[in-house]
Amino acid sequence: MTEKQTYAADGFDWEGLRQHAAEAAKHAYVPYSGYAVGAAAIVDDGRVLQGCNVENASYGVTLCAECGLVSSLHLSGGGRLTHFVCVNSAGEVIMPCGRCRQLLSENGGPGLLLMTVSGVKTMAEVLPDAFGPEALG
Ligand code: THU
Repeated sequence: MTEKQTYAADGFDWEGLRQHAAEAAKHAYVPYSGYAVGAAAIVDDGRVLQGCNVENASYGVTLCAECGLVSSLHLSGGGRLTHFVCVNSAGEVIMPCGRCRQLLSENGGPGLLLMTVSGVKTMAEVLPDAFGPEALG
């Protein structure tokens, strides 16, 4: 089985979404790490969102690609994320960092599907027993 067939095994065009993420990575502002990241996601109404990382001379305030994507989600009408992938500058799938798994969980829930370095996984698999809004009562 080829890699592309694996990506399409659940009937979703993961390769198309990966290409949106790779395109987004070209816009990254990464003068400090030199590590560009692009993210892309589908919203439950079919919108396609993108994000790229934006660094800052105050390193700790770097915005991951997922931050821009989630801002774009709300700016463009809200909704729930259904499919997500992020890539490096070579277009290779990478894992969202811990903080961004929290961001994605809040905006997609446990059923959000992610293309990961080890295949398609749910949000619940990449962030088990997540802290979420329900904990706040
Ligand atoms: N980065 C992201 O944009 N998303 C992630 O999920 C992992 C890390 C960025 C932050 C920083 O600009 C660069 O990758 C190196 O850590």
